[in-house]
Amino acid sequence: MITTYQQLCPVIFGPGALEQLGTKAKELKATHVFCICDAGVRTTGMADHVKDILEKEGIETCIFDGVLPDAPNEMVEEAGRKANGFGADMVLGIGGGSSLDTAKSVAVLCDNPAPLFQYYLSQGGTFQMKTPLVLIPTASGTGSEVTIMSVIHDEHSDAKEAVMRPGDLAIVDPELTVTAPPGVTASTALDAMSHAVEAYTSAGHTPNSDMQALEAIRLIHDNLKTAYEDGKNLEARTNLAFASNIAGMAFNDASVHFGHAAAHELGIRFHMPHGVACALTLPEVVHFAGDVMPDRVKKIAEALGMKDAAKSTAAEGEKYAIGRIKDLMKAVGIKSMKEQGLTLEDVKSCAKGAVEKNAFIAASPKEVTVPVMEKLLEEMYALYE
Ligand SMILES: NC(=O)c1ccc[n+]([C@@H]2O[C@H](COP(=O)([O-])OP(=O)(O)OC[C@H]3O[C@@H](n4cnc5c(N)ncnc54)[C@H](O)[C@@H]3O)[C@@H](O)[C@H]2O)c1
Ligand SMILES: [Fe+2]
Repeated sequence: MITTYQQLCPVIFGPGALEQLGTKAKELKATHVFCICDAGVRTTGMADHVKDILEKEGIETCIFDGVLPDAPNEMVEEAGRKANGFGADMVLGIGGGSSLDTAKSVAVLCDNPAPLFQYYLSQGGTFQMKTPLVLIPTASGTGSEVTIMSVIHDEHSDAKEAVMRPGDLAIVDPELTVTAPPGVTASTALDAMSHAVEAYTSAGHTPNSDMQALEAIRLIHDNLKTAYEDGKNLEARTNLAFASNIAGMAFNDASVHFGHAAAHELGIRFHMPHGVACALTLPEVVHFAGDVMPDRVKKIAEALGMKDAAKSTAAEGEKYAIGRIKDLMKAVGIKSMKEQGLTLEDVKSCAKGAVEKNAFIAASPKEVTVPVMEKLLEEMYALYE
């Protein structure tokens, strides 16, 4: 079988990696850097540290700290106008997925006229990519620094749209993640776990994405609780940063599937953080895959610590994997749908939007139609209480 895999941009990885930014920005011939973050990341001082690093190299830097969760299109367009007004010749995103995705789409708006919607994948729009784009994650979750897409919340259609703009350089410095509060650590790591589990069970998996996905599952399982309880533990933070980065590469090739489709709709409808919504779909993703690809579910169980997984039955592997994921979710404070005040009817009403608004549903291990999704949502509701 012939498969395709790729690495979209170089990654500088490791504690202290941020200090290489000045040299790299000069290599990219930057003179005016537009630095994008949200208010939470700004208060940690990281964006101002980026500005100091760049200004030491004589590079003018303007900080935009108005990123909103899930990158709504109007906020992105406002940032794009400011970047153009500043004369940006490099765009830099520092923060969680919302900030990195905003930076990706702002880079598109530096090279192409507004409005942004014409560049959505769903519109088939093409665009130029000239302005260098540097992506610096401060949370270990989305893997956006190495994926092709910028996920935008389109406020007109209330759908999550994708603009396909990869970065030119990723700097993954685990030291930047130590300030992430426990709730952010939990939700972002479980987003990365979802990327890995969905990539491993996707119809589009490749040998390369399999290797990355299984290692990401193992690292998140082994390190999330420690990082959640002791945010300053740099070893656990480093392992999670690497896991989210390789999980991003894995799903960029293999695609996510119905878990993320359901999570996008749950997130938009009920204002749940992306990673929490993804986590709530995870046990059901494993259960659904158990029927179609039992050997793969046993491998997931093994990555989650099951001894002798190879010798176990498919049902034992599935039971173990679902149990470990649920235990981990409880240990890091993920509230069930019911605990969040959602009724079964609320949740089931997401079926149509989940299937119709997310093209990657096609990568599910077997076909997911609207009635199938309704049943999956019902099982998700019951499976994690
Ligand atoms: N582009 C992709 O490939 C991709 C993949 C998955 C998800 N996404 C998208 O990413 C978005 C979610 O991103 P997210 O989960 O990272 O959330 P986020 O970017 O909204 O950040 C969540 C919170 O964490 C805080 N934070 C982040 N790092 C911190 C740090 N080191 N210290 C203190 N606070 C910190 C932020 O200030 C914010 O309040 C969603 O829109 C989702 O659809 C994109
Ligand atoms: Fe995700």
